[in-house]
Amino acid sequence: MKLRSSVLVALLVIISRLTLIGGEGMWIPMLLQQMNEKEMQEMGMKITAEDIYSINKSSLKDAILLFGRGCTSEIISKDGLLLTNHHCGFGNIQKHSTVDHDYLTDGFWAMNKGEELPNPGLTATLLIEMREVTDSILQGVDEKMSMKERQLQIKANTVRLTSNFEKDSPYKASVKPFFKGNAYYMLITEVFKDIRLVGAPPSNIGKFGGDTDNWMWPRHTGDFSLFRIYVDKDGNSAEYSEDNVPYQPKFYFPISLEGVEEEDFTFVFGYPARTNEYLPSYAVELITEIGNPNKIELRETRLDIFSKYSEKDPAVRIKYATKHARVSNYWKKMIGESGGVKRMDGINKKKDFENEFTNWAKQSGNDQYSLIMPEFERLYGELTPVKVASEYMMEGGMAIEVIKAASYYFNLVKLSKDDPNNIEAIDAEIAKLKKRKAAFFKDYYKPIDEEVMTSLLKLYNENMPDGEYKPAFLSTISTKYNGDYKAYTNYVFSKTMFDDDAKLTEFLDSYKPKKYKKLMKDPAYKMAMEMGDLFRAKLGGQMKAINNSIDSLQRIYMKAQMEMKPDDRFYPDANFTLRVSYGNVGGYSPKDAVYYKHFTTLEGIMEKEDPDIYDYVVTDRLRELYETKDYGQYADKDGSLHVGFAASNHTTGGNSGSPVLNANGELVGVNFDRCWEGTMSDLMYDPSVCRNISIDIRYFLFIVDKYARAGYLLDEMKLIKNN
Ligand code: ARG
Ligand code: GLU
Repeated sequence: MKLRSSVLVALLVIISRLTLIGGEGMWIPMLLQQMNEKEMQEMGMKITAEDIYSINKSSLKDAILLFGRGCTSEIISKDGLLLTNHHCGFGNIQKHSTVDHDYLTDGFWAMNKGEELPNPGLTATLLIEMREVTDSILQGVDEKMSMKERQLQIKANTVRLTSNFEKDSPYKASVKPFFKGNAYYMLITEVFKDIRLVGAPPSNIGKFGGDTDNWMWPRHTGDFSLFRIYVDKDGNSAEYSEDNVPYQPKFYFPISLEGVEEEDFTFVFGYPARTNEYLPSYAVELITEIGNPNKIELRETRLDIFSKYSEKDPAVRIKYATKHARVSNYWKKMIGESGGVKRMDGINKKKDFENEFTNWAKQSGNDQYSLIMPEFERLYGELTPVKVASEYMMEGGMAIEVIKAASYYFNLVKLSKDDPNNIEAIDAEIAKLKKRKAAFFKDYYKPIDEEVMTSLLKLYNENMPDGEYKPAFLSTISTKYNGDYKAYTNYVFSKTMFDDDAKLTEFLDSYKPKKYKKLMKDPAYKMAMEMGDLFRAKLGGQMKAINNSIDSLQRIYMKAQMEMKPDDRFYPDANFTLRVSYGNVGGYSPKDAVYYKHFTTLEGIMEKEDPDIYDYVVTDRLRELYETKDYGQYADKDGSLHVGFAASNHTTGGNSGSPVLNANGELVGVNFDRCWEGTMSDLMYDPSVCRNISIDIRYFLFIVDKYARAGYLLDEMKLIKNN
């Protein structure tokens, strides 16, 4: 290990407090041994850090894969069965669904390998090794450089390092900053490209409770889906081919049938995407008191419209299922996050810490550090109006589907204007646009979009302060249309071609470079362009400049916080790299006088059942299994069938699908959510209420075996029963 990293570790571990920290932290697998192993074992873990992450022998990490670009998955059989969440497989399950064979609603089960469904474009990425590379990446970088010079130098060093590595290796290499750019690691990965769908429960199991229960405990969702990795005959990653064979992993997770008890040690191993635990109060204030409330209102407006039409027509519901889930998910998360920070009095807590920090800096005579806080205040003051405007643009203007669709034609216009004889480039662009068009109209319903436009433009216009950050069409509505948003929407839809498959097809089929003028006159294109121009000319550049200054200050602030508290153990913010979180199974008290237990059961599903509400429909088959209590080996000691459990593992988006493991490293659950009261853990962790939510692995097995009658899949797994 390089000097810098050993210093860093020493710095972090010297007096690592041995008290339980209630689950906070997303730790770097290769540093577990120095930083966490002792504590993990004291909390009950029976395996070693080397069992979890090793580059010398097979270890748990060999069975964890980044699923697609946003989730985690784990290998649970000798033949490469890959388990993840239903909501992670959702897009792919939807792609295979039509009104006639609606796998999304009814579920899908391959009854043999021949029935497994390929998913072009879907990948699963395995970490082979991580290496600390701070010294090489910061070579030639000095503190006097401007942010731009620094970035260029880092980029050059990164390219040199990764291309050097890749030229002698079948694997891919990338480098990511940790601790806000105070440390760098190289991630060496293998990307699998033939990932087939094996099974998915019906939505009323995989999405039971839907967006109503999302982010909430107690929870009864069977949020899993099952895929399989295929490789070529030599065992190497390959594009889909009929000749490919199931992947034989170095390691796969044994599955425990023992369940979990309150206070049991558990850990989660996966790919958390993004957290921001070391921000100044000004940033937290901007996020939770300005940005979130604005976006919550815009999203809520859209969701109400989606729901209104989806309830009336099942075909619309299928079209908007993914869109609804996507918009609703962070809408709800933001509500929980802002509420959680308020409940913790988080901004004042940060401010107290910042005063302490500034005093410490002054006392130690460090001028640079003592100026950090006033500088943050100034920068966030500058950032606020720019950020508000660009969020309104993204979540207001660009959330109108025809406008977003039109924005994809910018490049065609540019090519046609600047380079009209470059037929090849123009043809390629047309081909891309045709593909996009097909995907767009597959899931488009115009009445929704019209209503969304009317409502969002109103919010955009009324809530954004007048001035340089407003696109011109908003003042057109005020002046020429007398603030009649509906009339303006009607005008746009009467003239645009972006809402009409036939018109757009005809336009693309007969495209000639000089026809770009027709695009320029299209009202949806014009709106997209006004926003695009505003973003390019002002918002984007300003935001980047301010964010650069913030990032560089944040890097110094991070380092300073670590110097101020040399006895604390710090973990780097999540950055979509493999991490380990650990904690204990446990319930919590969400409010005065109320306590939530740590597990849920099938009884709870029956309690929530409501045949008239889409999210709470229970199929006859599940009811029958419940009534006959046919739980087999999946029943808990208490005789009931456990569905989910809560624990204090620190997780975030991207941890969806992550394995939840017991003291022996056996699979006991699949992570899929956090409780609402704890969603501020991306900014501040509160051990008393922050809980990750997992499916009890026995519920997964029960659904595969008893419900779907696909028990043949269990033959390739390793089930562990102690007595
Ligand atoms: N809240 C979970 C996550 O962030 C689940 C999201 C999918 N489920 C849903 N009902 N939208 O990804
Ligand atoms: N459902 C989230 C995901 O997609 C995990 C929940 C969370 O943010 O903790 O990754």
